[in-house]
Amino acid sequence: MARESFANRTTAILAMAGSAIGLGNIWRFPYMVGQYGGAAFILVYLLAAIFICVPIFISEAYIGKSTQLSTFGAFEKLAPNTGWKWVGLLTVINPIIILSFYSVVGGWSLAYLFKSLTLSFTDASATQEAHGAVFGALVGNKWAGIAWLTGFLVMNFGVVTLGVSKGIEKFTKITTPILFVLMVAIVFYSLSMPGAKAGVDYLVKPDFSKINGHVMLSAMGQAFFSLSLGMGTILTYASYMKKEENLVSTGVYTVIFDLMFALIAGFAIMPAVFAAGIEPGAGPGLIFETLPYIFSTMGRDFPALSAGVAILFFTAVLFAALTSSVSMLEAGVAYFVDHKKMARGKATAIVFGCCWIFGSLCCVSTRLFDFCDRLTSDFLMTFGSLLYAVFVGWRLKKADVLQEIPRPIYFMVRWIIPLVIIAIFISNLVMKG
Ligand code: PHE
Repeated sequence: MARESFANRTTAILAMAGSAIGLGNIWRFPYMVGQYGGAAFILVYLLAAIFICVPIFISEAYIGKSTQLSTFGAFEKLAPNTGWKWVGLLTVINPIIILSFYSVVGGWSLAYLFKSLTLSFTDASATQEAHGAVFGALVGNKWAGIAWLTGFLVMNFGVVTLGVSKGIEKFTKITTPILFVLMVAIVFYSLSMPGAKAGVDYLVKPDFSKINGHVMLSAMGQAFFSLSLGMGTILTYASYMKKEENLVSTGVYTVIFDLMFALIAGFAIMPAVFAAGIEPGAGPGLIFETLPYIFSTMGRDFPALSAGVAILFFTAVLFAALTSSVSMLEAGVAYFVDHKKMARGKATAIVFGCCWIFGSLCCVSTRLFDFCDRLTSDFLMTFGSLLYAVFVGWRLKKADVLQEIPRPIYFMVRWIIPLVIIAIFISNLVMKG
C-alpha cells in the first residue's frame, strides 16, 4: 500500500506548525519567562530559535523526507548496521514521556473548558486569589486530574486512528487561525488593564545579569520543546512530505509561526499578571490562574463577553494542544506501523496505554510531573537535537545533503550547533557543581 502523504506544502507547513504551536507556547513559554526573569530569557530563546532551531529543524526534516520513513527505519536506511538506529528509539521513548505530562496539562485545559461552559469565570468580582484557589483545587484532586487526562488522551486516540490526511490535516487547518485571532484580542485587552505597563517592561527590558548556564539551557530547551525538535516528530511529519517540496522554507515558516504564538502568549499573559499582582514565577499554574482572571474582569462591562471569550479560548487551546499531542502519538505510532508492521489501531492503543499509565502517575506526583517536564526539554530533546545535527553534519554524505540544505546552514549544523549545545550543557553542569 502506498504511504500516505501531505497534499502540498501548505498542508505540510500547517501540520508542522500545528505540532509546534501548542501548550508549549501558551502554557509553558509564559511560565518559563516568569521563572527565569523575563526579557533576558526571551532574548536567549529568540537567538536559540533562529540560529539553532532553524538548522536543526531542517536537518531533522531532511532525514525523514529523504527516506520517507519514520525514525527507526530512516536511520537504518541512511546508516545501515550501525548504532544510529538506536537514536531512532528516542522516538519511541521521548514522546511517551512528553505526552504523559503534556496530557496532564491537556486535561487541565479540558477541565477549564468545562468550567467556562458552566459559566465559572463570569463573576467580575472574583479576586485573583479565588481563581488561584480554583486551580489549586483541580491539582489537588488527583482522581479528577486522571479523569480529565483520560478524556484528553481519548481525543488523541480518535484523531490518530483516523489516519494522517483524514484526521490530522483537517483538524489543524481550522483551529490554529481561531487561536491566533483570539490571542491577539486578549493581548489588547491585557495591555489595557491598569498596571499592565510593568508587565510590558518585564518582557522587553532585559536584565543581562540574569543570564547564566542554567537560563541558557532552559531557554534553549524551551525552544526545542516549542518546535517539537529532537525527538522524531518533525522527522516523521517530514517523511509524509512530497519530494519536490522545499525544506528550508518549510522550516523558516514553521519557526516564524511558532515564535509569533509564543510572543503573543507572553504579551497576553504578562501584562495581566502584573496588573493582577500575580507572582510571575508562579510556575506551571501561571496561565490557569491568570486567564480566568482576565476573562472575569472582561465581564465587568459586558457580562456575556467573559463567558464567550473563555469558552472560545479554551476550545482553541484544547485544539492547539491536540494538534501537538497527536504529533507525539504519531511519532510513536509510526514506529510500530513502519518498523513492526503493526496495524495502526493496535499501535495507537499501545502508545496510548503507556501514556495513560505514566500520565496518571504524573497526575498523582507533582514531583514526577516537574521532573518529566524538565527532563524532556533540557535533556532529551536537546540531546536528540544534538544527535540529529551530528548525524546530518558528520555521518551523511556531504554531496547528498547539499542538494537539499544550503551550504551556510550545513556549516552551522556541522560545526556551530554541536559546539554551542555542548558548551551550554557544560556551562550548566559547571554552574550546578
Ligand atoms: N511543540 C509542542 C508545543 O509547543 C510540544 C511538542 C513537543 C510536540 C514535542 C511534539 C513533540 O506544545
